[in-house]
Amino acid sequence: MPDDAYPLPFTGTPPQSTAPAPAPAPAPAAPLDVAALDDAALIARYDARIPRYTSYPTAVQFHPGVTEATLRGWLAGLPATAPVSLYLHVPFCRVLCWYCGCHTTAVTGAAVARSDGPVAQYVETLLAEAALWAGALGRRQPVTHLHWGGGTPSIVGPERWRRLMAGLADRFAFAPGAQIAAELDPRTLDAEMIAALAETGVNRVSLGVQDFDARVQMAVNRVQPYELVAAKVAALRAAGVGGLNLDLMYGLPHQSVASVVDTAEKALALNPDRIALFGYAHVPWMKKHQTLLPEAALPGPAERLAQFRAAAHLFERAGLVAIGLDHFARPEDPLARAAAEGRLRRNFQGYTDDPAPVLFGLGASSISALPQGFAQNAAAVPAWREAVAAGRFAIARGVAITPEDRLRADLIERLMCDLALDIAARCRLAGADPQRFAGLLPALDAMAADGLLERQGWRIRMSRRGRPFVRGAAALFDAYLDAAGTRHARAV
Ligand SMILES: C[S@@+](CC[C@H](N)C(=O)[O-])C[C@H]1O[C@@H](n2cnc3c(N)ncnc32)[C@H](O)[C@@H]1O
Ligand code: SF4
Repeated sequence: MPDDAYPLPFTGTPPQSTAPAPAPAPAPAAPLDVAALDDAALIARYDARIPRYTSYPTAVQFHPGVTEATLRGWLAGLPATAPVSLYLHVPFCRVLCWYCGCHTTAVTGAAVARSDGPVAQYVETLLAEAALWAGALGRRQPVTHLHWGGGTPSIVGPERWRRLMAGLADRFAFAPGAQIAAELDPRTLDAEMIAALAETGVNRVSLGVQDFDARVQMAVNRVQPYELVAAKVAALRAAGVGGLNLDLMYGLPHQSVASVVDTAEKALALNPDRIALFGYAHVPWMKKHQTLLPEAALPGPAERLAQFRAAAHLFERAGLVAIGLDHFARPEDPLARAAAEGRLRRNFQGYTDDPAPVLFGLGASSISALPQGFAQNAAAVPAWREAVAAGRFAIARGVAITPEDRLRADLIERLMCDLALDIAARCRLAGADPQRFAGLLPALDAMAADGLLERQGWRIRMSRRGRPFVRGAAALFDAYLDAAGTRHARAV
């Protein structure tokens, strides 16, 4: 669901190709000794509805003027040796979770099994799309990262999975040690699929957990006991599938600080390498099934913030490093190392250590990112399939990036990743005068007065207290925000 029109993890927009030179690595955000400020007052002031900045410009700025011809023109300038990342989207799940904001639909087991069913057709179209990319480039482009997202990519089953991975290896030149990641639903992951993942070199998996509390699970239409998740984690490890991420959520119906802490403790017991702790994005005006949730049981903004802080505290006490807005990782994990060294990136998949400046998006709704701009495939599966069957990229919209966009994208990305920013240094790298941002200093100082950040000249650093509000600081650099008038989910 590559749409940053509302904030979702692993479902935003592709990497910025805007990091010309590494900035000095910032020190970790330091706790500030601020006058105790009521959380409710902070939220009232800063909990605006703003994007998650998985790209800049965000998907709201995409328009139909970017077409297949635009993408082909951009591709013509891509050096043959440039390493790229691949994102493949599979928009199917067996059952819909009622909180879900991803681009997916529910399909029955019979529909999955049918050899002429929607999943089988989708797999064939993905293979044809991979051939289309290789044909347009006239070569097998080197690939360093492959990310399978959804929906639930593993729904395709072991045989089709092997076929897909072999087809991709035919069309692209995977670098030795390339990272191959997949988002998985533990409820539908069986032994044969785990064997296929291991056999095809998948070395990083992300399991959707969200919450272990039975009442919360019932309310969101996703029942998966702790024992089930623990068994799938053990099976993945036994098969040699390495890096494990768990997705957790706060702000779901019936969640409380106590229940989130209990879930966080159980998640820690599984000893993951990474944890993503996503704030539930309630956007029922875009995702109608979210109206099935008991809205009266949704925690309010102050309760959400308390839930986030309680879980974050627990993770850090257990030795995980806080990364960016909502991630935690073991200190030796590549994501934590990238964060410590100022190399963390933010893209369509969320936070990543992937340095590749180019992303090819395959599948319905996927977004490709090139130095010149973003190009998004048609979101509707039939439109995507028809275009690919006719030998065309299914580009429906996108945006070309201006030099001004590139500078602002860099400032926003560094702030979202480092929780710190040297405006003057980043402007210098882009050959720009930092004075153009002088008008933002009063707003930054207002955040500083509230204990959310520290400012020294052109340098700002979010405080520990301010971490959940980093999107508010990033939004100050967004030249489109006011003009768009778009509704996003809550910032906190
Ligand atoms: C594609 S799913 C992960 C794989 C698999 N489909 C599953 O759910 O187990 C990506 C993640 O997005 C998060 N997510 C989905 N809807 C969300 C929403 N409305 N707000 C915040 N996070 C959401 C969940 O944490 C979910 O695990
Ligand atoms: S399984 Fe994952 S993608 Fe599918 S509905 Fe649930 S959260 Fe969304």
